[in-house]
Amino acid sequence: MTVPSPSRTKTFELSSAHDWWRQASVYQIYPRSFYDTNGDGLGDLPGITAKVPYLKNLGIDAVWLSPFYPSALADGGYDVDDYRNVDPRLGTLADFDAMTAALHDAGIKLIVDIVPNHSSDRHEWFREALASPAGSPARDRYIFRDGLGQDGNEPPSDWQSIFGGSAWERITEPDGTPGQWYLHLFAKEQPDFNWDNEEVRKDFLTTLRFWADRGVDGFRVDVAHGLTKHLPETLPPEIEMPGMASEHGQHLFWDRDEVHDIYAQWRQVFNEYDPPRMAVAEAWVHPSRRARYASSEGLGQAFNFDLLTADFNAAEFRSSITKNLAESNATGASSTWVFSNHDVVRHSTRYGLLQEPESSQIPVAETGAPMAGGARDGKAWLLAGAPEHQLDRDLGLARAKAATLLMLALPGSAYLYQGEELGLHEAAEIPDAQRQDPAFFRNPGVDIGRDGCRVPLPWNAEDSAFGFSTTDPHLPQPQWFTKVAAESQEADQQSTLNLYRKALSRRRMLQGPEELRWIEEENPQVLHFARPGGWHSITNFGDTPAPLPLGLALLSSGPLAGDGTLPPATTVWMTC
Ligand code: GLC
Ligand code: CA
Repeated sequence: MTVPSPSRTKTFELSSAHDWWRQASVYQIYPRSFYDTNGDGLGDLPGITAKVPYLKNLGIDAVWLSPFYPSALADGGYDVDDYRNVDPRLGTLADFDAMTAALHDAGIKLIVDIVPNHSSDRHEWFREALASPAGSPARDRYIFRDGLGQDGNEPPSDWQSIFGGSAWERITEPDGTPGQWYLHLFAKEQPDFNWDNEEVRKDFLTTLRFWADRGVDGFRVDVAHGLTKHLPETLPPEIEMPGMASEHGQHLFWDRDEVHDIYAQWRQVFNEYDPPRMAVAEAWVHPSRRARYASSEGLGQAFNFDLLTADFNAAEFRSSITKNLAESNATGASSTWVFSNHDVVRHSTRYGLLQEPESSQIPVAETGAPMAGGARDGKAWLLAGAPEHQLDRDLGLARAKAATLLMLALPGSAYLYQGEELGLHEAAEIPDAQRQDPAFFRNPGVDIGRDGCRVPLPWNAEDSAFGFSTTDPHLPQPQWFTKVAAESQEADQQSTLNLYRKALSRRRMLQGPEELRWIEEENPQVLHFARPGGWHSITNFGDTPAPLPLGLALLSSGPLAGDGTLPPATTVWMTC
């Protein structure tokens, strides 16, 4: 099957200034855990600048930088105090400019995370709201309600926050009396903005221009499906509300049609620039409703998390790839692929679990807990104290490398997460007292949280904090990092790091039009597709060797047998 694209003819030149993002390899940096240059245990922006040669050598096209704004870190920086500044612990605006310049000099674009659904409770607007009376313009920028029951001491509804516990928090009025409640779909330190408020809308346009003027090439839009809310006088109980991924856009706050008016306005701002700024939506919506986020009148691209939630299984992979290519064909956007990010258990660990966690039956988008990962994420393994006998680390890594090599052959953008190029597993050994994720604190015994994929990177095996910092890192690193540190992988041609480097550089050379043709194989465990120019990717999802077609092997995710077969859990790129 060939999946052509109406706009493809002009799209495949990667060098095309406007379309650079369509088939980019984007590397996500979680800045506080990347590299620390001033010895405070927290990664910083000069740390990214210092590692630009590493990024260039890796062969990525762009960096997506998770929030680096001033923040109390109630939610890893997704609680923003000031949208137009840098967290002083991470650097200054001058450091930001130096980092951007260094990336650009190395030919790497920069995408920043923008968090428009909520601010932090330390944002000056929220403080102003607390200091102002009920019904004031300052309160109107957020979502305040009177409580129910006698004295208003019950929350306005029984809605649960994504991180657990009530989605409403009561404030103390300026005169010291217990007062109104505000909505926070995430942690209580993350009050939701009221997007019906014109000032909120205008302020975000200012923020987008502020970063675009500084040379940022694009934006990753956090919780893009959450902004607009329709809250009637009487709020329905949670049980009467449809799931987050409702097909018809009828939810009171997720994925409402009006949200696209906002992105249409943003698109106008993006298009004021040359080249236009790109954007990618994090929108956990029904697949049929993803297209609008990805449209060229809107954000232009949207994540699909289908592969991230799929098992290591040929049929599941094939069907998500086919669906997503058809979808991007219809919108004219390019597809996105992702296995790991700062919200989910690392894919090498997910794929190495010998027992399916019970939660694997729950479709992610309907759990209402997208960032906690939900399905198939190894949460159950972590909660059970991460018993090693339930995890086959080698198998997990072999599968992860096979999956990644397959992904890097697909048309569209590949989103990679820092540390996956080292083959990192989830760090399970974090003592409760050192955990940071609100998902852990708000769900005792239910959710282990996301800290295990946010542990600072191991740069070398000898130095303190594995070369990350001269002091204790903000999250403890496991001892097995000795074996996977970046420097230790340099010399080993078979290392995961060198596989990523080879794959990323070949991908650049081989990349052509966004087309894919499936080649039918007799073995149902094998997925084989071809890209224009005779670039073939063949993956064996099974646990026995599979016959290989004749051709020249360019790169494989693991050793090839040399007997014309493809070993289990291996991908090979060939020209046939
Ligand atoms: C997104 C982020 C996640 C964050 C949440 C609230 O899902 O990826 O890390 O906790 O939004 O901002
Ligand atoms: Ca630092």
